Amino acid sequence: MRRILIAGANGQLGSRLSEFELPLGFELIVCDRQMLDVTDVASIERALDSHRPDVIVNAAAFTAVDRAEEEAELARKINGTALQYLAERCVAHSVDLIHVSTDYVFDGNKNDPYQTDDEPSPAGVYGHSKWEGEKAVVKAFVDSNRCRFWIFRAAWLYDSRGQNFAQTIIRLGESGKSLKIVNDQWGAPAAAGPFAALLMQVAKNPNLLKSGTWHYGTSGPTTWYDFAQAIFEHKNLQVDTIPCSTDAYPTLAKRPVYSYLDPVPLMEALGRDPEDWKDQMHRIL
Ligand SMILES: NC(=O)c1ccc[n+]([C@@H]2O[C@H](COP(=O)([O-])OP(=O)(O)OC[C@H]3O[C@@H](n4cnc5c(N)ncnc54)[C@H](OP(=O)(O)O)[C@@H]3O)[C@@H](O)[C@H]2O)c1
Repeated sequence: MRRILIAGANGQLGSRLSEFELPLGFELIVCDRQMLDVTDVASIERALDSHRPDVIVNAAAFTAVDRAEEEAELARKINGTALQYLAERCVAHSVDLIHVSTDYVFDGNKNDPYQTDDEPSPAGVYGHSKWEGEKAVVKAFVDSNRCRFWIFRAAWLYDSRGQNFAQTIIRLGESGKSLKIVNDQWGAPAAAGPFAALLMQVAKNPNLLKSGTWHYGTSGPTTWYDFAQAIFEHKNLQVDTIPCSTDAYPTLAKRPVYSYLDPVPLMEALGRDPEDWKDQMHRIL
């Protein structure tokens, strides 16, 4: 029996992870924040003792990028310090760890696809806190030969439900108003369901992929403006859209201009091609 524990099960990614029906020989343990608070060592210990997982998939995070600038301490606690606790306890109990990180660990000043050996240089509190979390995981697992870790960085996550760019843009498109949409930030949309499926594949079969940091994503890049246009076409919405620059939407946290994470090495390791972002959008929405 391989037991797979999901932390952060109520989130966009966590809820997709929690919906999988696993074949015989696997057990899924779904933990929301009440059942497992990643910032609380006692809560982590309790979850490890009572559920005895073989692998934890950590989808828990503080993801409000702008709010992180004002609530830096909390963001660092959930995205950074908590990973030190979680990773150390995983190693102590010989439990594998799959952790999810973000394009925000980079400043976005490159103009070709980010590779996993590019040095992170986060521009804001959220990116810093996620980078701290990544480093804590690597440090805890460095000398461990009884369990493995994987860090998957992703960007531009969306879904056919919940709160994300795609759902916001559909709602705004249906309002009939004309919309200004940012056309100078580059990345690739990635749906939560297919990402969750890949994480679950690794959770089920740890021999599939070597330990380390990987970039997940679709083939791209594109801009938010083009993503929105593709959504409107797909939904048959006639919307008056105006491409604009990032300056039109001042935000507390600086947005990376270029966020495209090269998905090819990961997909090659798994023996497949990255899915085209537009094909995936049609499939998911
Ligand atoms: N969204 C994106 O565009 C995006 C892009 C790239 C990478 N990522 C990464 O992908 C991962 C999943 O993101 P998401 O979009 O699914 O985020 P999300 O929807 O904000 O979900 C995060 C979840 O974490 C839970 N959580 C917060 N603090 C916790 C704690 N102390 N202990 C346990 N759970 C806690 C939240 O619980 P409550 O429901 O109780 O608040 C929430 O359910 C994150 O690591 C994020 O950094 C996201």
